[in-house]
Amino acid sequence: MLKGDFPVERFRDIPTPFYYYDLPLLRRTLDVVQRQLDRNPTYRVHYAIKANFNPRILAEIAARGFGADCVSGAEVRAALAAGFPPEGIVFAGVGKSDAEIRFALQQGIARFNVESAAELEVIDEIAGTLGCVAPVSLRINPDIGAHTHAGITTGLAENKFGINYEQMDEVMDLSLSLPHVRYCGLHFHIGSQILDMMDYVALCNRINELVLRLQRAGRRVGDINVGGGLGINYQHPNHLPIADFEGWFEVFRKHLRLPEGTEVHFEPGRSLVAPCGTLIARVLYVKQGTRKQFAIIDGSMTELVRPAMYKAYHRVENLSSDEPEEVYDVVGPVCESSDVFVKEASIDRCRRGDLMAIRSAGAYGESMASHYNCHPLPDCFFFEG
Ligand code: LLP
Repeated sequence: MLKGDFPVERFRDIPTPFYYYDLPLLRRTLDVVQRQLDRNPTYRVHYAIKANFNPRILAEIAARGFGADCVSGAEVRAALAAGFPPEGIVFAGVGKSDAEIRFALQQGIARFNVESAAELEVIDEIAGTLGCVAPVSLRINPDIGAHTHAGITTGLAENKFGINYEQMDEVMDLSLSLPHVRYCGLHFHIGSQILDMMDYVALCNRINELVLRLQRAGRRVGDINVGGGLGINYQHPNHLPIADFEGWFEVFRKHLRLPEGTEVHFEPGRSLVAPCGTLIARVLYVKQGTRKQFAIIDGSMTELVRPAMYKAYHRVENLSSDEPEEVYDVVGPVCESSDVFVKEASIDRCRRGDLMAIRSAGAYGESMASHYNCHPLPDCFFFEG
């Protein structure tokens, strides 16, 4: 089996499970995005820090001058601590609390991506008490279905996110009438792990339609934030370690029809950080069940919940073995039947003590870790290159 290039010797004395981050790969990925930004001077990137808010990862991304997309007051705080300037921070979320809104206003963040008329009124009121004006974009639910897991679509009318696009004009009127908010643009996000670029073409078409509607009514469009969602290749992390950023930006270059000079903002999360992260765990036991063979490892759904939560696929490699492949269910020790990484996977023969790599785990891995079963949060190890 083709495996990733890992410094296995150095792993020997590190207690497992832990996250391993390949920083040179992260930097190569950021270089690719940087080149796209150099070609498109009106494009801005805000890294969606929910994907991974490990301070070391945040610092690498902040150092590029990218902005941050946050979804809680604590994420805004983490972004600031890592060196993202407030002028690059955007704050989305359907349930921003008063304390979070106040904190973000006091920090002078770039934008509130507002998800309802009710939220707009609260932001206006809090900004009024602070004697400032809040920059807002309206998050519009475009009713576009992304071809991805049902659990991670966000842009359908049935989802809780954003303002119905039919109500856009009404909420915009409200934003223009309130004294302590300033309308700055529109925000969209259709889902995550999107590989079918036609989904983004559909988003562009919807945006064009709304922009035209605004222009016909003589309204200002402001800037356009198209959200994140670009998928990665979980099947082949060794062949395709960098997401198709070129194809992604190209769709917007080709299909968006916007007034000259309009800024277009992007919020990639997974595509920047997933490939550079691997969960490393050890085989505890190999067990022959009635119908199956299990490789029981010391990593679990508490370090990486995606397989249990979304039935998401992560490639598993045995870094310690060159023996012929056998078929295993790779499972963790947590007291839940869903604590399974892969089922019926062909993996080089496993023995107690072997080091296993669970690949493409840099996004929504460490950031979704839990303490279930009194497990400690995972440690991490950085490969500097
Ligand atoms: N912008 C907004 C407003 C978002 O809600 C999200 C992700 C992003 C940007 C970044 O999306 P990305 O580029 O990472 O796809 N836990 C799930 C993914 C949840 C995504 C939530 N929103 C998973 O493990 O697959």
